[in-house]
This record gives sequence, C-alpha cells and structure tokens, in this order.
Amino acid sequence: MPGFHHLSKASEAMGCQLRQDPPRLRCSHLRIAHLFVLLFGLFRMSSGIVQMSKSVKEKVSLPCGYNFSYEEADMLQMRIYWQKDNEMVLSFISKKTEVWPQYENRTLLDIDDNFRLMILPLFLSDRGTYTCVVQKREKGSFVLKHLTSVELSVRADFPVPNITQFGEPSADIKRIMCFASGGFPKPRLTWLEDGKELSGINTTVSQDPESQLYTVSSKLDFNMTYNHSIVCHIAYGDSQVSKNFTWEKPPEAPPDRNHQVFYVIIVLVVPFAICIVHRCFRRRNTTSRKGNNGIYLGPAEVSTGQNV
Ligand SMILES: *[C@@H]1O[C@H](CO)[C@@H](O)[C@H](O)[C@H]1NC(C)=O
Ligand SMILES: *[C@@H]1O[C@H](CO)[C@@H](O)[C@H](O)[C@H]1NC(C)=O
Ligand SMILES: *[C@@H]1O[C@H](CO)[C@@H](O)[C@H](O)[C@H]1NC(C)=O
Ligand SMILES: *[C@@H]1O[C@H](CO)[C@@H](O)[C@H](O)[C@H]1NC(C)=O
Ligand SMILES: *[C@@H]1O[C@H](CO)[C@@H](O)[C@H](O)[C@H]1NC(C)=O
Ligand SMILES: *[C@@H]1O[C@H](CO)[C@@H](O)[C@H](O)[C@H]1NC(C)=O
Ligand SMILES: *[C@@H]1O[C@H](CO)[C@@H](O)[C@H](O)[C@H]1NC(C)=O
Repeated sequence: MPGFHHLSKASEAMGCQLRQDPPRLRCSHLRIAHLFVLLFGLFRMSSGIVQMSKSVKEKVSLPCGYNFSYEEADMLQMRIYWQKDNEMVLSFISKKTEVWPQYENRTLLDIDDNFRLMILPLFLSDRGTYTCVVQKREKGSFVLKHLTSVELSVRADFPVPNITQFGEPSADIKRIMCFASGGFPKPRLTWLEDGKELSGINTTVSQDPESQLYTVSSKLDFNMTYNHSIVCHIAYGDSQVSKNFTWEKPPEAPPDRNHQVFYVIIVLVVPFAICIVHRCFRRRNTTSRKGNNGIYLGPAEVSTGQNV
C-alpha cells in the first residue's frame, strides 16, 4: 500500500512538531493535514465507530483495540498516536510518551491495556472522534498495523431547575419562572400540565462561549383561581430534569370569615330567638288557656252530655 509510506513520513512530520521547532511547524501542519485526509480515507473503509458518552469531570478510557503483547513486539519498533479530530492528543515514539498541551496532566497511555487512552478530568471540549494509530517498523519503514476510532460525547448535566414566583401581571394571573444553568448539550424547556404542553413566555436558551455550557429560562402565566400541577421539563441530549410546581387555589379568606361569623350568629342566635319566641308563645298560650278555662268547659260538658 502506498499509504504506509505516507504515514511514516507523516510521523516524521509529527516528530518535527514534537521538537516544537517554530519555523518547521507550518510544514508539519500541512503534512499532518495530509495525514488526516489519508487517515480518514482509510478510516472510512474500516468498520463502525465505537461510541461513548461521559460527563464533564468524569474519567474516560478509550480503547485502541489493538491486541498487543510484549513478547511479539519490540517497543522501540512501535509508534502509537492518539488524535482527536484535527489535533494531536498523545504520541508514543521510541518508548517516550508525549502529551499535547491541551491534554497535559490529565491524559495517560495505558500500554499494558493495549494502548488505551485515559483522560481525567474530562472537559466539554474533549468531545470528538478519537483515532488510535498503531505503526510498526517492518523492513526499515513504519507500517500501519491498526487504526481505530472512538466517538466521545461529553455531557454536562443540568441541575434540577428552580421555579420562582415572578409576580402577578394581572388580576387572577400569577407568573412563575423556571431556570437552570450549566448543562450541555442544547436544552429544550417545556411546561406541562396533565401531560399537555403549555406555552411559555420568553423561553431563552443561551450558551457561555468559554465553557460552552447552556442556560435556559422560561416564564409561565396561570390563572390563580384554579388548582395547578405544573411541570418544568428540560430535555438535553438523552437526559432530562424536571421540577414540579403545585398551586392550590387559596381559600377566599376575608369573605369566608364574614360568612363564618354570619353562620355563627345564625346558629347561636336563631335557636335562642326561637326559644325565646317559643317560650313567650307558650306562656301566652298557658295564660290564654287559663283565661279560657270556663269557655272551654262548656263544650266539654256539652260533649259529655251528648255522649251520655
Ligand atoms: C484480540 O484478542 C481477542 C481475544 O483475546 C479477540 O477476541 C479479538 O478478536 C482480538 N482482536 C483483534 C483485533 O485481533
Ligand atoms: C502540568 O503539571 C506541571 C507540574 O505540576 C506544571 O508545571 C504544568 O504547568 C502543568 N501543565 C498544565 C497544562 O497544567
Ligand atoms: C435554586 O434554589 C435554591 C434553593 O432555593 C437556591 O439555593 C439556589 O441558589 C437556586 N439556584 C439558582 C440558580 O437560582
Ligand atoms: C419578553 O421579552 C421581550 C423582549 O426581550 C420583553 O420586551 C418582554 O417584556 C418580555 N416579557 C416578559 C414577560 O418578560
Ligand atoms: C380565571 O378563572 C376564572 C374562573 O373560571 C375566570 O372567571 C377568570 O376570567 C379567569 N381569568 C383570566 C384572566 O383568565
Ligand atoms: C411531578 O408531576 C408529575 C405529573 O404531574 C408526576 O408524575 C410526578 O410524580 C411528580 N413528581 C414529583 C416528584 O412530585
Ligand atoms: C385544590 O386543592 C386543595 C388542596 O389539595 C383541595 O382541598 C381542593 O379541593 C382543590 N380544589 C379543587 C377545585 O380541586
């Protein structure tokens, strides 16, 4: 394969960059660009990409997939490169490991575990496609022995969102705001009630240019005269967070108390009044009965007389 020759040349170019020789840097960049075109050409021919998903600050261990054994290989005859998209991550040449500045102090090559690349802690900017290249010297020139790629997605999790009350824009209407920050990838915020989507006000999604992390917020108006069980839902990547907000229609306090007083008055006063009225009536009744005794006796006598 003519490609192998180019690869070995490209490794030399990387060597030039390793020496950090400023005048030669541009030339090596061109050569590396050439190498990448070549590698991706080769890569397309190989089988599917391994996919991995990790969170910011976590550790990742990327497999190279090359079955390496000390017995079969003279380490001096081996060259390992780990690259990410269009940049170098790490090289292992002549038993020396070189780590590129962006990965310094947090990246290791695990030679014993078939050239795994380990990164700890992960930055959001570490996401991308990593390629492991294994070359071996055969008959004087380095030959490509193995090429594998791992697609790494780095996630940053949103905290549980905060829902804050935001005043009352008009009578009966309450406004709340849902807010969450520090997540990735781009989130989608929705308001839900009874599984139905409600329309939020001024839903905004912004991204911090440096950390690349997103902030999302949205407001919602609801009618205070009903009970509500509202969910603020934030979906990002294959994850989601949500926060429930329940609103209980407040008891109509001032008119209610008046009613209660009114009822107390009715409950206490009305029987009392009835009692008084009843007693008066009974007294009047007995007095009238007493007064009417003679009159009532008459018909009683008549009736008894009629019965005899
Ligand atoms: C590496 O070795 C394992 C078994 O030890 C085997 O299953 C696997 O197919 C080998 N991989 C390659 C690329 O040869
Ligand atoms: C890596 O660690 C060394 C020694 O602690 C330090 O001098 C260097 O600045 C560090 N590099 C980075 C990129 O943090
Ligand atoms: C969310 O609410 C908690 C508790 O009320 C508070 O401590 C925290 O600072 C809030 N976070 C934001 C981003 O407002
Ligand atoms: C929504 O955004 C517009 C434009 O930024 C602003 O004029 C309006 O007051 C906002 N509405 C609310 C409810 O915050
Ligand atoms: C809120 O609900 C009550 C009860 O149904 C209704 O009378 C009122 O008009 C509603 N208010 C608004 C602003 O929609
Ligand atoms: C939040 O509300 C949803 C739907 O109303 C419900 O299924 C879920 O259990 C609630 N979660 C909590 C923590 O109350
Ligand atoms: C509103 O919620 C309160 C407390 O859970 C409950 O007592 C009341 O019956 C509810 N009102 C309606 C109209 O569902």
